[in-house]
Amino acid sequence: MSNLVSAVDQKEIQRRRTFAIISHPDAGKTTLTEKLLYHGGVIHETGEVKGKSGTKAVTSDWMELERQKGISITSSVMTFDFDKLRINLLDTPGHKDFSEDTYRVLMAVESACMLIDVAKGVEDRTKKLYDVCRYRNIPIFTFVNKLDREGKDPLTLIDEIEKTLNMQCYPITWPLGIGQRFKGIYNRLTKQAHFYDQRREGNEVTIVDLQGPLDPILDKYLDHETAAQVRDELDLIENALPPFDVEEFLSGKLSPVTFGSAKQNFGVDTFLKFFTQFAPGPKSRPVKKGKEVDPLSTNFTGFIFKIQANMDRRHRDRIAFLRICSGKFERGMKVNHSRLARELRLSYSNQFIAADKETVDEAYAGDIVGISDTGNFAIGDCVSTQGKIEFEDIPKFAPELFAKITVRDALRRIKLQEALNHLSEEGAIQLFIDPTIGHQEAIVGAVGELQFEVLVHRLQDEYNLEVKLTRLPFTVARWPRDATGKAVFELKGNFQMFQDMIEQPVLLLNQEWDLNWAKKENPDVDFAASISRAR
Ligand code: G4P
Repeated sequence: MSNLVSAVDQKEIQRRRTFAIISHPDAGKTTLTEKLLYHGGVIHETGEVKGKSGTKAVTSDWMELERQKGISITSSVMTFDFDKLRINLLDTPGHKDFSEDTYRVLMAVESACMLIDVAKGVEDRTKKLYDVCRYRNIPIFTFVNKLDREGKDPLTLIDEIEKTLNMQCYPITWPLGIGQRFKGIYNRLTKQAHFYDQRREGNEVTIVDLQGPLDPILDKYLDHETAAQVRDELDLIENALPPFDVEEFLSGKLSPVTFGSAKQNFGVDTFLKFFTQFAPGPKSRPVKKGKEVDPLSTNFTGFIFKIQANMDRRHRDRIAFLRICSGKFERGMKVNHSRLARELRLSYSNQFIAADKETVDEAYAGDIVGISDTGNFAIGDCVSTQGKIEFEDIPKFAPELFAKITVRDALRRIKLQEALNHLSEEGAIQLFIDPTIGHQEAIVGAVGELQFEVLVHRLQDEYNLEVKLTRLPFTVARWPRDATGKAVFELKGNFQMFQDMIEQPVLLLNQEWDLNWAKKENPDVDFAASISRAR
């Protein structure tokens, strides 16, 4: 008997594409997302996705604080159809204090699109995000944005990306002018030039076949100086570059670059067409023990990469985001929960389309489903219909900032504990316990400053708790392990041991110097900077 899903379901799985857009804040991620949804026919007017300027509320900007600060903190999922494909687009927080969220999202995608501002080039955050993608060998598309503004010339920019990120770039399109003189892009694969009319939002596009750099059509659209520069550039790259190597791209070694302006909706359609042609669909996933899981398998499998509480304030809901790795999801199906070693029914499930969430009855490998959760799921949990499954761990980042949280009204302490537990299950913060004091006064750890700000805001906003945050002097958290990976509960050298929420011993230290001392006193112990989320 075949252990693959039916031919019809195989087709469904094969048409899935799941990717994330990553960028330094302000590079235009929200704007590009909006334009992609527009091309996907999900939204019909621009401004539906963007919420920062007081326009309609958005899925990618759930939280009030995000709107106030003009940043995207949480990450969301949006689904749309384009060119026979079902595309799942995962948003990622741009702010560096939320790198851990980005990392988790990248565990759930097959490719990523890196957005770069043409004027700013490679920014600090861009580099960190590339590193995360590279670590997992995720194929990366690069979209150079804001071509309607003055910026770096494309050759310099490509050189900068290659050198700073140590990543080979391959221009798929080439800009025809920049800033005031930006007139369009040349698609090197189709050998067509797309000329845009800047006065009319992306609607007025003329597409012509270009007979090489010398084609006189360039003189019709470009001024003399721009035409000369474009000819020189095209001449150079056409002679220097080999054909596009898909395998190099799929193995994460080469990044295809497209140019455009998300705001003006220029070059977005070309990117999307290129994406649909080359983006990989669901792949086999490695597991801790045994054979990789084939996405076409009848064994339904998936893992939780994100938990979001209180998306709908009125219902106090909690959604666990499940990335389906293989098979077909059917609402109401029973699955084995590997960590809890018990069966669960997945009854309430949603998918997200722009600002709306819809009940989903069926979904396939590659899709993300939001499961209503009453506390059964933690980040990293795996489910399957046939036996037990454990995918790769989702690592926790070691926090570097610590604080004590107290509530003014002593009677509300229990509520505070509950709220902190919720938020730590979401991965928004990490909690530590001083065993000499106990649970009533948890220590909160964060990777970045903004996480504390969000925490205080959410405690007030979602739980009606007015809290005081007192910073603690720790800056280092380490999980001591012996050579076999087992937790070490006692150390030589008079170190106080704390516990994390799964009762693992943790060392909280004021500075690196203390850590070096601990290492010297305990040479056989490994001081791990992260541990798996799986319990
Ligand atoms: P983010 O999600 O990556 O943080 O960026 P976002 O899309 O919010 O864009 C940041 C700013 O850059 C916005 O301006 C946006 O309009 C602008 N922008 C995005 N793409 C382009 C582009 O292709 N060309 C130009 N010229 N600007 C672009 P803002 O002033 O912050 O907001 P708004 O008043 O324009 O909405």
